[in-house]
Amino acid sequence: MADLRVNLAGLMLDNPVIPASGTFGYGKEFSRYYDLDILGSFSFKGTTLHPREGNPLPRIAETPSGMLNSVGLQNPGVDEVISRILPEMKTYFHKPVIANVSGFSLEEYVEVSRRLDGEDQVGMIELNISCPNVRHGGMSFGTDPACAAEVVGAVRRAVKKPLFVKLTPNVTDISEMARACEGEGADGVALINTLMGLRLDLRTRRPILANVTGGLSGPAVLPVALRMVYAVKKAVKIPVMGMGGVSTARDVIEMMLCGATAVQVGAANLVDPMACKRIIEDLPAEMDKLGIEKLSDIIGGAL
Ligand code: SIN
Repeated sequence: MADLRVNLAGLMLDNPVIPASGTFGYGKEFSRYYDLDILGSFSFKGTTLHPREGNPLPRIAETPSGMLNSVGLQNPGVDEVISRILPEMKTYFHKPVIANVSGFSLEEYVEVSRRLDGEDQVGMIELNISCPNVRHGGMSFGTDPACAAEVVGAVRRAVKKPLFVKLTPNVTDISEMARACEGEGADGVALINTLMGLRLDLRTRRPILANVTGGLSGPAVLPVALRMVYAVKKAVKIPVMGMGGVSTARDVIEMMLCGATAVQVGAANLVDPMACKRIIEDLPAEMDKLGIEKLSDIIGGAL
């Protein structure tokens, strides 16, 4: 029988498939379609200290084989997540969840991480220093190795649970960013967040998105993500969570061969709410076709 289990920095997952932050909310809507306990885990919407309404509309634009988003970290804030959302999540998800932490200052990252780290349902912190849709904070921390190191070091000292850092592809050398995070005690890195892009409305001759630019995700970015996961796996010893354009079981296998221990699925959830269930169910047959008995054996196999 195919063995799908993986060990992600000490967190044993039944399989490597994890819905990506921002594409799965807090899971509640998806729990009406399938039992979320079949997932490896899921990463909930990036949480900030204070509630945020996000960017003005429109904030989604379709592209060939992908989409641009400029959501702007809409979320109810950490108080609401802890007091209302996490207790409710206990009724439909019974595994450790990944808390995606976003922020606008080092102090905010530390405070939100510290508070979520104290919640028993949270199995891992995913420090999002890669949001391309806000002017300050977000990606500005993740494009300079010294800034990334400073925030990762400060959060590392504030939390006990495994700490992953979500990296932006909008840099010259993502491996350098990963090494900076590893040097400050990160337990792993997650990549890639979205690639910055722009589309115009030809009738108005203006950008479609109110925020002008947005982050590109979807199948179009898979080869970029694979290249970066491959490069980062070579550059660091800590585990890599791969993401970017994954929509099939074969994509998951490709991502793992490039070095991913677990694989996040993002935009595919917006196209098909059953995407992660389908991928998990398809994995054993695909493994069989490719002569893979134990999924964890193939991690980094292409390097
Ligand atoms: C957003 O809320 O704008 C997307 C989050 C991200 O890309 O990190």
